[in-house]
Amino acid sequence: MGRGVYCKRSGPAPQARNNFAVAINTVQWRSGGVRMLDQRLLPGREVYRVYRDYRAVAGAIRAMVIRGAPAIGVAAAMGVVLGLKGAAGERARARFAIVAQTLKAARPTAVNLAWAVERMGRVLEQHLSLNAPALFARLRDEAIAIYEEDIAANRALGAFGAALIEDNPAQILTHCNAGALATAGYGTALGIVRAAREAGKQVSVIADETRPFLQGARLTAWELKKDRIPVTVIADNMAGTVLARGGVSCVIVGTDRVAANGDVANKIGTYPLAVMAHRHGVPLYVAAPLSSIDLHCPTGAQIPIEERAASEVTQIAGKRITPAGVRVFNPAFDVTPAELVTAIVTERGVARPPYQQSLAALKVG
Ligand code: MRU
Repeated sequence: MGRGVYCKRSGPAPQARNNFAVAINTVQWRSGGVRMLDQRLLPGREVYRVYRDYRAVAGAIRAMVIRGAPAIGVAAAMGVVLGLKGAAGERARARFAIVAQTLKAARPTAVNLAWAVERMGRVLEQHLSLNAPALFARLRDEAIAIYEEDIAANRALGAFGAALIEDNPAQILTHCNAGALATAGYGTALGIVRAAREAGKQVSVIADETRPFLQGARLTAWELKKDRIPVTVIADNMAGTVLARGGVSCVIVGTDRVAANGDVANKIGTYPLAVMAHRHGVPLYVAAPLSSIDLHCPTGAQIPIEERAASEVTQIAGKRITPAGVRVFNPAFDVTPAELVTAIVTERGVARPPYQQSLAALKVG
């Protein structure tokens, strides 16, 4: 992404206020812009970029500078703030329509993105009478609230999830990265791992490498190593062997969208992992903040699945590994049917089957 302002590897790591202490500063509102850790460069280089234009924020989301459902929701909310700077009244309303469309189109599967943009839209509607500087301040505060609530939700979800981990020591298999890097800074699936450790449990993680974008090998391994949580990386096709050998306490994954019936969209490769976990009697827990639960989406069949560039499959680290011109299929997510999901862990508690009832009870309260 050319348009972000490059910052040197920098500083004050975790946020000052204790309630919102984070493992990694994935995304923050900083000096009038959105500051992101460029995840494309990890684990090799730790580079932060600051974006001051909403189109550049949308571009960064599309290009995977930032990724992970809650993190892109926070970034999009901050993008709305940038997009509405200097506007008020009807002008702000008209501009919001364009800004919202651009940001929502960046990635379609994670419902958190649309959820965050729509929440910003509701705040705008309530404050249309404010002048431009006051409206800007109000929207900025709302985006920061979304950021802070994500951290609080992850911590609460983590505590509920940690209680499900019975083995001590426990070995947890995960897919993709549902950690600090995928959220405002604590993590959902890896938030459970962090909370279990904070509760005094001995936990270690097996991380699927997660082809083709390698979120497991690059990002999960990086953040766990940084946090001194033992991690073993495996190629995706080794998960069956690892499960068959025994010793895996549970599989914990994040999600981009949970449908009303409990079907779960998550990183491609989650569905086969769920089938294998079921085959070997290993529980599969899905860590899902309420912002990822879409009660308007009846089943997984209605979840839009993003397809990404062929080059993600034909190349590794910029090097072609397939014959030129070969056809490629690259869906970024798959849907795990609710029947394979042991429980869905949210910040309000743990949902069990039948999910139609339990998810609605938690989300609607
Ligand atoms: O394509 P990505 O890297 O954005 O996909 C991320 C995932 O699939 C995560 O598991 C999901 O967003 C949950 S993150 C808490």
